[in-house]
Amino acid sequence: MIGIFDSGVGGLTVIKPLIKYFKSDIIYLGDTARVPYGNKSKETVIKYSIENTKFLLSKGVDFIIVACNTASSLAIDTLRSIFNVPIYGVVESTAKVACQFDSIAVIGTKATIESNAYEKTIKMFNQNASVQQKACPLFVPLIEEGLIDDEITKLVAKRYLNGIQAQALVLGCTHYPLIKHIIKEIVPNAQIIDSGTSIINTIDKNMLKGSGKIEFYATDSPENFSKIGKLFLGENFNGVKLVDLEE
Ligand code: SIN
Repeated sequence: MIGIFDSGVGGLTVIKPLIKYFKSDIIYLGDTARVPYGNKSKETVIKYSIENTKFLLSKGVDFIIVACNTASSLAIDTLRSIFNVPIYGVVESTAKVACQFDSIAVIGTKATIESNAYEKTIKMFNQNASVQQKACPLFVPLIEEGLIDDEITKLVAKRYLNGIQAQALVLGCTHYPLIKHIIKEIVPNAQIIDSGTSIINTIDKNMLKGSGKIEFYATDSPENFSKIGKLFLGENFNGVKLVDLEE
């Protein structure tokens, strides 16, 4: 059984291909009470990530996918040093796809970009790659508000992305695939690399077992999780359970 956590609903872009191609049991935790992680300190993101992982392990999962780019950038080493199960992060899996290109642009939350995790990881695989990075802190709140086809989001995107020239553009935040159509209009010549779908290339497929049963947990407002989650998953789902990680 896979345990996946994200700061909120964005990690559902990671679940989507897993559901499409494999039948595996999944427990998903969205830390909706504490979203966004992208403007928090490293210490705080590590603390939240440890609590999320403990919760998933208490449900009997065999391995963990850190679906949040911010947590993957700041907390993955600490998680691996504490917990004795395989822990996969979206930054490594996305960097492995991106490193096929020599000129790469990465967009993400402030914390992800400031951690430099993408540049470091891409350069581990392709030393010659040129990597430009841009924090886009307003994207997550705009998407969480459901403004995925709104003029305001288009204006913000133009402000952030105008002038980006690269062979590949990494969407280094699991929320961003929802505004891929807007991003593509502004950076039409770049190959878009989605951190949500790349994880599937990295995980050991033998570990994907089960009957396709998915349980969703949220740390706040399960109704809201279902409502916004529909935008990500493209289908209705209910039965999201509320969990208090501090109990
Ligand atoms: C956030 O919580 O700020 C966004 C999630 C991500 O970095 O993927």
